[in-house]
Amino acid sequence: RPGLAWNAMAGLGFEDVPLAAIAAEHGTPCWVYGADTLRARLATLRDAFAAEGLAPAIRYAVKANDHLAILSVLRMDGAGADVTSTGEFARAEAAGIAPGAMVFSGVGKRSDEIERAIGAGIGQINVESAEELGMISAIASAMGRTTPVSLRVNPDIEAGAHDKISTGRAGDKFGIAYSDAVSLYRHAAALAGIAPCGFSTHIGSQIFSPEPFEAAYRRVLDLIDALRADGVAVTRLDLGGGFGIPYDDGIAFALPPYASMVRRVAGNRGLELIVEPGRWLVGPAGLLLARVTLVKRTAQQRFVVLDAGMNDLLRPALYDARHGIVPVSAVDAAGVAHPAEVVGPVCESSDRFGDYALPELAPGALVAILDAGAYGAAMSSTYNGRPFAAQLLIERGTPHVIRMRQGIEDLWRDEIVPDRLG
Ligand code: LLP
Repeated sequence: RPGLAWNAMAGLGFEDVPLAAIAAEHGTPCWVYGADTLRARLATLRDAFAAEGLAPAIRYAVKANDHLAILSVLRMDGAGADVTSTGEFARAEAAGIAPGAMVFSGVGKRSDEIERAIGAGIGQINVESAEELGMISAIASAMGRTTPVSLRVNPDIEAGAHDKISTGRAGDKFGIAYSDAVSLYRHAAALAGIAPCGFSTHIGSQIFSPEPFEAAYRRVLDLIDALRADGVAVTRLDLGGGFGIPYDDGIAFALPPYASMVRRVAGNRGLELIVEPGRWLVGPAGLLLARVTLVKRTAQQRFVVLDAGMNDLLRPALYDARHGIVPVSAVDAAGVAHPAEVVGPVCESSDRFGDYALPELAPGALVAILDAGAYGAAMSSTYNGRPFAAQLLIERGTPHVIRMRQGIEDLWRDEIVPDRLG
């Protein structure tokens, strides 16, 4: 796995830093990201397209990991942002990403959010409905501005992703119905404050084969061809995100065949291309470091109880996701693996990471929960009175704290108890 390496003495290391040293200094649970791994992912993504003669604008899906340091690393290497709220927009701006290098996605953008984005000169708003198009037109024209918009089309494609992360089927809440897209685009061209620039589509997340993407792009390109045949200008195609990463199962999304499909299908039309990957860029660039609190044995099971739980990493509870879990110490790792049910401390039955084959682990043993850089910390909560975990970024062999562990008092710092109760 990228960035991870074993050392017979120091155990598991990430970007040459022993994870045991990080745990000793910063405590657990903590998120550990690798800046070089992240940069290498971005370079690999670019290279796959470059090999096909393509250079799509990369608009990183901020929702996957919205930490300012992560955004800054990506910005320095030329990525823009795909944002879904004023919070993400402002974060991306705070990390130095120019609004012109951002696309604004989402099915429920509020008018104040649209106004702020237009005021700052957002690069593109991905419109999700006729109703929203009307809102944007009214806001932009009241501001005396014209904003570039792309219509997000729902291509009615089954992408084979988990139900909770599929977005491109006709019954999903996302995008404009395929059959309405051409007429809405024409309508957009006539609306005040709107400069329609093209189409976007995003069919889901954690997709492994180019086929559903190809089917979706072909459908959208048919719309573009129909409009162009009538002399209507269409300049951009936003290909969305959704590229899968291998978790515990080893299945990987192969970028080269995807990039080659994009060239074949969309490469010869003079379209500006955009991609919006989130998980593929940051997932493998991060892990969650946790300690074994205790091992509970019943007649049937060995429960390995960690100090990290579903409040930290929600994906197993929410999507039955399975992340690789490996011991950190070389001595632990040398033990004979046998069945263990790995669980967190939260008072919910769904707070379980899953069934694993792990060696004997004593209380205090460290484990790394792998590929947790995307939709990990970003989806954390403080449920069960559990403070947000610390976050670290390894930069050239040095771990930097990029978010302090939340203090216990900080859990209620913003709460107000009315003076007169009772
Ligand atoms: N563009 C749009 C419009 C999106 O809605 C998303 C993700 C992306 C791009 C990035 O997709 P990615 O490349 O990361 O697959 N929390 C879930 C994933 C939710 C994805 C939501 N939209 C999980 O942990 O699996």
